[in-house]
Amino acid sequence: MPDTLTGPARAAGLYDRVRRVIPPIEWQTFEDDIDAILALKRQRNAIILAHNYQTPEIFHCVADIVGDSLALAREAARTEAAMIVLAGVSFMAETAKLLNPDKTVLIPDLEAGCSLAESITLADVRLMRSRYPDVPVVAYVNTSAAVKAEADICCTSGNARAVVESLGVDRVIMLPDEYLARNVASETDVEIIAWSGHCEVHERFTPAEIAELREAHPGVVVLAHPECPPEVVAAADFAGSTAAMSDYVEKRRPARVLLLTECSMSDNVAAQYPGIDFVRPCNLCPHMKRITLSNIRNALKTGRHAVTVDPAIANKARRAVERMLAL
Ligand code: 13P
Ligand code: SF4
Repeated sequence: MPDTLTGPARAAGLYDRVRRVIPPIEWQTFEDDIDAILALKRQRNAIILAHNYQTPEIFHCVADIVGDSLALAREAARTEAAMIVLAGVSFMAETAKLLNPDKTVLIPDLEAGCSLAESITLADVRLMRSRYPDVPVVAYVNTSAAVKAEADICCTSGNARAVVESLGVDRVIMLPDEYLARNVASETDVEIIAWSGHCEVHERFTPAEIAELREAHPGVVVLAHPECPPEVVAAADFAGSTAAMSDYVEKRRPARVLLLTECSMSDNVAAQYPGIDFVRPCNLCPHMKRITLSNIRNALKTGRHAVTVDPAIANKARRAVERMLAL
């Protein structure tokens, strides 16, 4: 470790959390922003909620709460901080705002979207409802507030099956992720009517890629996110939300593991488990990567960009999220 790493962030021992995944020379470019963010959080009574796909310097060094979309929604509902900065994508910030209408919720980059959220509109949901009257609609949290407002209940990848089965019906509409819907359908007797949205990150994994990697890395344990196509999930050893993948590694400690998901997830988990060999093919989410230390610092400094939700849809959308959280 060079002696130049002497700033307060270094003094606080933060570099130790990420030394396995961030070289010292790169860390030096982060220190000033990290120190400024830590000070601004105290001044503003703010917390940072960071998704598992955020880069390690955000995830391990400035975030107060980290997790999957379900954990972030739960923590957003619980926090007493005056301000929430959502280090993640827009639908996550919108969900935090729905649960905290009187608090300031900031997203550091307004363009941090999601291919799933963009795959469906309010008009599409109404069309599905008119085609299948009386069939309840389960909306993945990766949707706009307007789409949530048209849904009966929300779900995440961590609770999708439980949400579907909680409704006590034979058939549900589950949107917008076709693959998540098909993966859940393979685990339940409830008939699932799907939409045709896909995650641009997870749809790119293939069974052929897994077969090649198993050959190149004998003994590798393959964990897949349920946004992957069903044939990819079938070729994996385990499928679960980002939090479930993390828990799997923590509890089972495989010697060698491959996480079929966004790249930073492996970095964040690898930073904590030096003894585990992480096989690294992964896909980047360009939306998650729009969030940086620099724009988090700017958000805390300037109060931009404050998330707003049209009051005409907020109450209905909140009901769908709260119904999920109550399960
Ligand atoms: P998780 O809820 O599993 O964290 O997934 C969110 C997401 O956007 C995955 O692509
Ligand atoms: Fe959306 Fe996929 Fe990015 Fe998750 S990884 S935020 S589902 S585009």
